[in-house]
Amino acid sequence: MAYKHFEAIEKHAALLGVLTAVMVSIGGLAEITPLFMEAHAVKAPAHVKPYDPLRLAGRDIYVREGCYLCHSQMIRALRAETERYGHYSVAEESVYDRPFQWGSKRTGPDLARVGGKYSDQWHELHLISPRQVVPQSNMPGYPWLVKAKLDASDIQARMRGLRKLGDPYTDADIDGAPAALEGKSEMDALVAYLQGLGIKNEPQVAAGAKPASDGGAP
Ligand code: HEC
Repeated sequence: MAYKHFEAIEKHAALLGVLTAVMVSIGGLAEITPLFMEAHAVKAPAHVKPYDPLRLAGRDIYVREGCYLCHSQMIRALRAETERYGHYSVAEESVYDRPFQWGSKRTGPDLARVGGKYSDQWHELHLISPRQVVPQSNMPGYPWLVKAKLDASDIQARMRGLRKLGDPYTDADIDGAPAALEGKSEMDALVAYLQGLGIKNEPQVAAGAKPASDGGAP
């Protein structure tokens, strides 16, 4: 009896197609919905702070210049990655990143934990003329950033906007923002952004826990 029903469905290509789509959709929803709920529940741990004004401005320059087209900011939980870059990236680190900079295109190295790896001066020289520092580099130079004065006119509006989305900026943070950008170049802001990457938001490995460099299985 049941066999006859199947036969009827299998002999009607359109009906089979529709019923297949319905089944796949139910399966898809069952898998995707919990992930969406989980993503909304991700909260910043106490040690992850929102960007200070200079780094926030630097982040916008990073996005404007399209650095993400060659650099990811997401370390995978693979031994080759954790040995090279440090602890694999976790969702909590990116709660203040709008839009996030994870990416998968790596013409250059991952930058998720590049903060503190080089001096400010190294970064500036490298961004002005990459091949002066790394002869085999094919990264383009961004020399104009040194002369470009940082535009502070909308920093307060940006911070207020982010506060609406949940970033815990205080009134004092927002009031002080223009002064923090006073006299800075776009290069200063970009370098400050790079120097902060991964520095304070690295997942904290509890005492006695396995260090990240063991391959860090999640
Ligand atoms: C066309 C691809 C490309 C673009 C666009 C690009 N980079 Fe790079 N970047 C590279 C490559 C390749 C390297 C490795 C060689 C080197 O160090 O110059 C690199 C290296 C770096 C490093 C050193 C990383 C390390 O761990 O040694 C930093 C920092 C960096 N880039 C920042 C930036 C920033 C900031 C921008 C945007 C203003 C940018 N890059 C745009 C390709 C790119």
